[in-house]
Amino acid sequence: MLEHERVVIHTGRRSRLPVIVAVHSTALGPAAGGLRLWHYPDWRDGLTDALRLSAAMTAKFAVAGLPSGGGKAVVALPERGELDDARRRDALRDAADAIALLDGVYATGPDVGTSSEDMALIGETTPHVFCRPTALGGSGDSSPHTAQGALAALRAVSRRLYGTACLDGRRLAVVGLGRVGARLARLLAAEGAALTVTDVDPDKRRIGDELGAVWRSPDETLTADVDIVVPAALGSVLTRRTAADLRCRAVVGPANNQLATPDVADLLHQRGILWVPDYVASAGGVVNAVSTELHRASADEARARVRAIEETVGEVLDTARRHGRTPAQAASELARRRLHAAPDPAAPPTASPGVGTR
Ligand SMILES: NC(=O)c1ccc[n+]([C@@H]2O[C@H](COP(=O)([O-])OP(=O)(O)OC[C@H]3O[C@@H](n4cnc5c(N)ncnc54)[C@H](O)[C@@H]3O)[C@@H](O)[C@H]2O)c1
Repeated sequence: MLEHERVVIHTGRRSRLPVIVAVHSTALGPAAGGLRLWHYPDWRDGLTDALRLSAAMTAKFAVAGLPSGGGKAVVALPERGELDDARRRDALRDAADAIALLDGVYATGPDVGTSSEDMALIGETTPHVFCRPTALGGSGDSSPHTAQGALAALRAVSRRLYGTACLDGRRLAVVGLGRVGARLARLLAAEGAALTVTDVDPDKRRIGDELGAVWRSPDETLTADVDIVVPAALGSVLTRRTAADLRCRAVVGPANNQLATPDVADLLHQRGILWVPDYVASAGGVVNAVSTELHRASADEARARVRAIEETVGEVLDTARRHGRTPAQAASELARRRLHAAPDPAAPPTASPGVGTR
């Protein structure tokens, strides 16, 4: 059974590429989620990705307590061959047309294969876009806010494990020093954390040196004898094998899709390793962008919502402990509860204070 409210598939008028927009749920508000421009063996794999990722956005917003629903757009590129600039622009304009036709049911932002600058181009066709460059009135690069949100999640975990949110002297291992990881490592160093860091790019060692961090290989960092491992790179870093080798007490970080398979969350739980679901710990960037650009919150309100990830993670961990669940189960139950509590969109409207504008 299709559990999505709406899925549109167009052949791009200009690019002739498949453009897919999946709206999973608008129960909490109009849908939002990134536009992925990515290569797939078959365009139907792009459809599968859009269905899966839009459902994940519903859970992400529900757990973060935002009045937004889950959506995702995909332009499915052939497995081989790169787009030249002109065809890439055509693909983005085709995506913009599909989003414009939805007339506010879905708003898009950057994702794998797209950037803030691409959102500026989409903004020429439709206002239903976020994370445009700051020079154009958008909220720009989301990674500083993603890093702040991950820091908030780490504080909540520290409180649970050590009775204090303070990370001073805590041993943390950061895997990946890209846009988010480098910022997060800097924030953690400023908090007084003792850092071990890594990246597959040896040039990133400079960042570690600057922060007085220990530099290790990616494998050594993941299995280092530390308090918390912080995944901030790409790919499914938590496999059955790595879960067995971990020596930390918790894994909490901004990387998406950390689990190779869902059962790894249970394995970590059995080993007494606390894992905060990635869609909870990585929400800061989208929370800030959607709050400021779609819900017209002030910069201060948006920052407060990013900081509130600390309370959200605390609530998820408390619920998990009380009911003998994993944090992954507790987070998805929290999302389900919030969705079921949402008013029926088919019901007649009543005056409601809401949160900002939708
Ligand atoms: N940018 C955001 O606002 C945002 C929001 C939510 C989630 N995320 C997630 O956070 C993660 C990092 O995003 P980013 O924007 O910093 O990406 P990025 O491309 O800037 O950085 C990724 C870094 O990871 C390194 N890396 C790749 N594979 C690695 C490996 N196996 N071991 C160690 N290092 C490795 C890369 O060299 C790079 O430095 C991704 O999983 C992304 O999906 C980012």
